[in-house]
Amino acid sequence: MTLQEMIYHRRSCRSFTGEPVSEELLQGVRAFPMKPLYPDIKVHWDILPRSQVKCICPWTTPQVICVYSEEKEGYLENVGFMFQQMDLYLQTLGLGVCWLGLGKMNEKTAQKIPGMKFVIMLAFGNPKGDFLRHDGKGFKRKSLEKISDEPDARLEPARLAPSSVNSQPWYFTHAGDILHVYRGGRPIAKYMNNIDTGIALAHLYVANEDTFRFLKMDNVPPIAGYEYIGSIQ
Ligand SMILES: Cc1cc2nc3c(=O)[nH]c(=O)nc-3n(C[C@H](O)[C@H](O)[C@H](O)COP(=O)(O)O)c2cc1C
Repeated sequence: MTLQEMIYHRRSCRSFTGEPVSEELLQGVRAFPMKPLYPDIKVHWDILPRSQVKCICPWTTPQVICVYSEEKEGYLENVGFMFQQMDLYLQTLGLGVCWLGLGKMNEKTAQKIPGMKFVIMLAFGNPKGDFLRHDGKGFKRKSLEKISDEPDARLEPARLAPSSVNSQPWYFTHAGDILHVYRGGRPIAKYMNNIDTGIALAHLYVANEDTFRFLKMDNVPPIAGYEYIGSIQ
């Protein structure tokens, strides 16, 4: 399956065999190229043993991807954008994945990266059984009408994106050929919701790889309760 096809089949996986991912597959994972939303923001990531992280989730994987970034404007959207490409890729390899907002680095054993802040982790591993969606019906998501000022089938890949506690905080408005992207949600969830919005943008990028262009524009109309994230041309 391609990354684009995986948008319509993916699902967060929370049931694993416990068997570590083979070194051969890990080499491919390490070499997977991810397009950034903001190329000037430095990102560092590593595949670490679960012993180096803490998470209250009742399930576990032997390995996790831990992501660090420079703390610059847009860094959370950038991490969401990059690592949702990884989320899709891992699933094309037959691996199960779950973003892990609840995961924290183990302060005693975690590596400190100068100038970088730990942002988030993704658990991944060999899934127990088949975890993908096959009929396209298993998605609990808002309707296109609820995430946009006008129904637009081109937004379907963004609509299906995963988000923290399935909050789906993204909102799109149309201005001619340009789409403005906003982030809503509760103020307390802003950190995760910025990552979520980058994830939705990643699905639009993967679905429109040749034409996707993201930029920040001036004088974009404000929407009460939402923050402007950027625009797609
Ligand atoms: C940024 C982010 C953080 C998440 N954190 C967790 C988590 O800590 N634990 C968990 O079980 N699921 C977590 N999830 C998975 C979401 O609950 C899941 O994506 C959402 O409910 C939609 O379900 P789906 O991914 O199966 O389509 C997270 C997802 C995102 C995008």
